[in-house]
Amino acid sequence: MSTASLNLDGKSYELPVIRGTEHETAVDITKLLGQSGAITMDPGFNSTGACQSSITFIDGDKGILRYRGYPIEQLAERSDFVETSWLLLYGQLPTAEQLKAFRGQLTYHSMIHEDMKKFFEGFPPNAHPMAILSAMVASLSTYYPGTEDDNSDVNIVRLIAKVRTIAAYAYKKSIGQPTIYPRNDLPYCANFLNMMFAVPAEEYKINSVLVKALNMLLILHADHEQNCSTSTVRIVASSRANIFASISAGICALWGPLHGGANQAVLEMLQMIHDDGDDYKKYVMKAKDKDSGFRLMGFGHRVYKNFDPRATILRKMTGQVLDELGISDPLLNIARNLEKIALEDDYFVSRKLYPNVDFYSGILYRAMGIPTNMFTVMFAIGRLPGWLSHWREQRDEETSRIYRPRQIYTGATERNYVPVEQRKSL
Ligand code: ACO
Repeated sequence: MSTASLNLDGKSYELPVIRGTEHETAVDITKLLGQSGAITMDPGFNSTGACQSSITFIDGDKGILRYRGYPIEQLAERSDFVETSWLLLYGQLPTAEQLKAFRGQLTYHSMIHEDMKKFFEGFPPNAHPMAILSAMVASLSTYYPGTEDDNSDVNIVRLIAKVRTIAAYAYKKSIGQPTIYPRNDLPYCANFLNMMFAVPAEEYKINSVLVKALNMLLILHADHEQNCSTSTVRIVASSRANIFASISAGICALWGPLHGGANQAVLEMLQMIHDDGDDYKKYVMKAKDKDSGFRLMGFGHRVYKNFDPRATILRKMTGQVLDELGISDPLLNIARNLEKIALEDDYFVSRKLYPNVDFYSGILYRAMGIPTNMFTVMFAIGRLPGWLSHWREQRDEETSRIYRPRQIYTGATERNYVPVEQRKSL
């Protein structure tokens, strides 16, 4: 086994080196604190590995993303979301029988307890659907109590099956329409679209172009190794909190505009530029001005420093879907112009800022009729099998321990308490 040497305060420490199947390298510092009294510092965890995982491989420099070894391009083109979910969860592509059984289970578990419908009535009409989703997912634990060790597979199925029902109900609630029950004759994505857009008075025709686009969007979002929300799921799960609580925490982490909330922020930015006379060059200038506090939403990524392979797939798909649906969207033109100018501009090129997956997903969701404040919910539906796979992987790890990072304390040293009447203002 190879080792790395660390010299600290005149002493030398030999640290084991771990190598992944794709030749990634890590210096194992697990014993460093005990041996030397020192910790390592890495705010944002840019250079820190939190676990070993066999789910997803990313090479940010080469723009590679693979789930369980399968390139994202092949899965997006040839798989569907349910099959990809199985792959992520169980590590192999399912046999025809396994896939059929999994689809059947997702159908069987798609309804939520009738009493839970009352919860939706308690939220104000303009409640953000991410707040509703996280609250409802945590609430599922009240219907399926127990530890995370029993029934975990059925709870995994329950979550994947019910999350789309909850999401569609949250949307129906926000527009004041009656909820539509899941239908047993419809596959996963078609069922979701039906619950979102059908109304009791008339039959809703499911458009195969939308079903294909939705499958692809969900596949592209299905996992992305140790990102902010997945790490959150693993952190919460490490305390042995139940599976619903762990996933609810992941949903909250995804909500932020620097993570899953970026797709909503991209659309709002494009709309703002459109309302401001389509002057996209002005906004490129603004993004380059540090004092403006403005960033081009949908640009940049912590890991991809060349291109985001999901953005490449989505860019093509967005154009195709809009053509097939006969939609001409001025926001798509602004997006293309922004992309073009930013890819040539030294500010973006030198910082390796390229469009990420969210740059185009919002336009595609908008074309599908999904409202802007539901975009992050769509991301959560897609990311769920990834979160669950990591939850499972961590649970099965023999060496798994509760997450407990350290810190370097920079506050006041010891001082004595002063009664309030003797305190002088600072
Ligand atoms: N627009 C303008 N400048 C940017 C942008 C942007 N979108 N992103 C980064 N920069 C600049 C920073 O100001 C910084 O410049 P400096 O070196 O001169 O100080 C440099 O590029 C590096 O930026 P960091 O913030 O250090 O990069 P980090 O890896 O920490 O952040 C992030 C990545 C959060 C994605 C960032 O690029 C960003 O805020 N992008 C916009 C939000 C977004 O699209 N988020 C979605 C991420 S993808 C996902 O979650 C699915």
